[in-house]
Amino acid sequence: MLELKDLKVEVSGKEILHGVNLKINDAETHVLFGPNGAGKTTLLMAIMGFPEYKITGGSILFNGEDITDLPLHERARKGIGMSFQRPPTIKGVKTHQVIELSARNGISIDEAAKELNLGHLLNRDVNDGFSGGEIKRSELAQLMAQQPSFVLLDEPESGVDLENISLLGGAINKLLQKDMKRQRVNSGLIITHTGYILDYVDADVGHLLIEGIVPCAGNPREMLHHIKENGYEVCAICPTNC
Ligand SMILES: Nc1ncnc2c1ncn2[C@@H]1O[C@H](COP(=O)(O)OP(=O)(O)OP(=O)(O)O)[C@@H](O)[C@H]1O
Ligand SMILES: [Mg+2]
Repeated sequence: MLELKDLKVEVSGKEILHGVNLKINDAETHVLFGPNGAGKTTLLMAIMGFPEYKITGGSILFNGEDITDLPLHERARKGIGMSFQRPPTIKGVKTHQVIELSARNGISIDEAAKELNLGHLLNRDVNDGFSGGEIKRSELAQLMAQQPSFVLLDEPESGVDLENISLLGGAINKLLQKDMKRQRVNSGLIITHTGYILDYVDADVGHLLIEGIVPCAGNPREMLHHIKENGYEVCAICPTNC
C-alpha cells in the first residue's frame, strides 16, 4: 500500500532523513521505534505532505501511484490520515466542527465521540486547554470520522492514562480493521516509545529509525524488548540487518 524508496527529507535546510526505504502492504500495521530527534515525526510529516518537510530525493508510492509531489489535501483525499504528536490549538474553531469537516458520508460523529469519551469536549475550541490525553482522543475521533485507508499515528498513547489507552486501542483497531479479519485492507504506521499500544494493537512489523535511515525490520515486540534491555546505542552499532 505504501512504499518509500530512498526517501531524503530536509527541514529548515538540514537533511534529517538520509534515504529511508520502507514497504507496508495492505492490511499490515507497522511500528516505528527510534530515539528522540531521530526523525520519526519528520518521516510521518513528509509522508502526509507538509511542505516544510522538503523531499529532496527518492519517492513515495501509495497504492502503486507516485505521490511524492502531490499536495497534502490530495494525499488525504486518496486515503492517508494522520494523528499528530503535538497538534495545534485552533481558537475559534470548535472540535465538533473539525470532526464534521473530516467526516466521510454516513459516518456518525456522535458514535466516534462516544467511542472516545469525547462528548464534553465537542463544544470547546480545538485542543484549547485540553489535557494531553484529551488531545490524543480528539485526534483519533477526527481520524475515525475521516476513515482513512492508511493511518499515520505519532505517539498516540503518550500522556494517556491506562484506562483511556484501552479506548484508544479499541479505536485504533477499528481504524486498522483489526476487528474484521476477512475484508481488511487498511494499513498503518505507528510511532511509539513505550510500546503500550502493542498490548491493544496486534502489529505485524517493527522498524527502527536511527541516524536518518531505517536499517532493520523485525518482530515489534522483540524489537521493543531488545531496545528496553540494551538501549538504542547498541542498535546504532548493530552490524546485522535483523
Ligand atoms: N521545523 C524544524 N526546524 C528545525 N529543525 C527541525 C524542525 N523539525 C524537526 N527538526 C529537527 O529534526 C530532527 C528530527 O526531529 P523529529 O521531530 O522528526 O524527531 P522524532 O524522532 O520525532 O523525535 P521525538 O521522539 O522526540 O518525537 C530534530 O533534531 C529536530 O530538532
Ligand atoms: Mg516525534
